[in-house]
Amino acid sequence: MKNLIQIDHPLVKRDLSILRDRRTRGNIFRAVLRRTSSLMAYEVTRDLLLRRTKIRTPLEATTGYTVAHPIVLVPILRAGLGMVGGFVEVIPDARVGHIGLYRNEETLQPVDYYFKVPKHLARSTVFVLDPMLATGGSGSAAVQYLKDRGARSIRFVSVVAAPQGVRFLHRNHPEIQIYTCALDRTLNRNGYILPGLGDAGDRMFGTNE
Ligand code: PRP
Ligand code: URA
Repeated sequence: MKNLIQIDHPLVKRDLSILRDRRTRGNIFRAVLRRTSSLMAYEVTRDLLLRRTKIRTPLEATTGYTVAHPIVLVPILRAGLGMVGGFVEVIPDARVGHIGLYRNEETLQPVDYYFKVPKHLARSTVFVLDPMLATGGSGSAAVQYLKDRGARSIRFVSVVAAPQGVRFLHRNHPEIQIYTCALDRTLNRNGYILPGLGDAGDRMFGTNE
């Protein structure tokens, strides 16, 4: 699939197996999602443009580098929150916006309830964070919102994606790069990813126990 980048790192595969395992409880689930997100952050920032700077070591002058464009992280609430800590660990100067969306359980359509994003999105590289890309409705709505606020460089970072969601997001936003740790088989009739990892928000926050 064009513009779909699968993160194929052995440590990511190990962590994803822990996340998928139904026996993994909330505190471990949160810790492993955070660690996976840090590993993903390396991969999804691999091609960021750098700007040269002049620096001095204690011994002499040399060339240093800074990231050329500001980075904005935008988790989709709730489950995307579980990815922020891992990203911020490796990109501490990132700014963070929030988009609140949940799926209507019957129609599977996204319902929005909160938006707050930093200014000057046009100059930034924006990473939308959501562990689950299922039908693609939530991801697509989030990307549209960010475009409406001026974002031009947007990457979508998921842990597990369904083919239906990748196709839907690409149909609506063909230029967006989608990163995922796994392209799973399909969706069930309730819109859950198979094999997936269940309801990410509920598993993180213990809201279905
Ligand atoms: C989940 C998930 C995504 C969305 C994916 O959120 O975190 O945001 O579903 O599904 P889609 O691709 O079909 O739109 P959910 O609606 O369960 O909200 P929650 O994170 O608050 O539980
Ligand atoms: N949201 C989830 O949390 N899990 C799925 O499998 C699909 C949507």
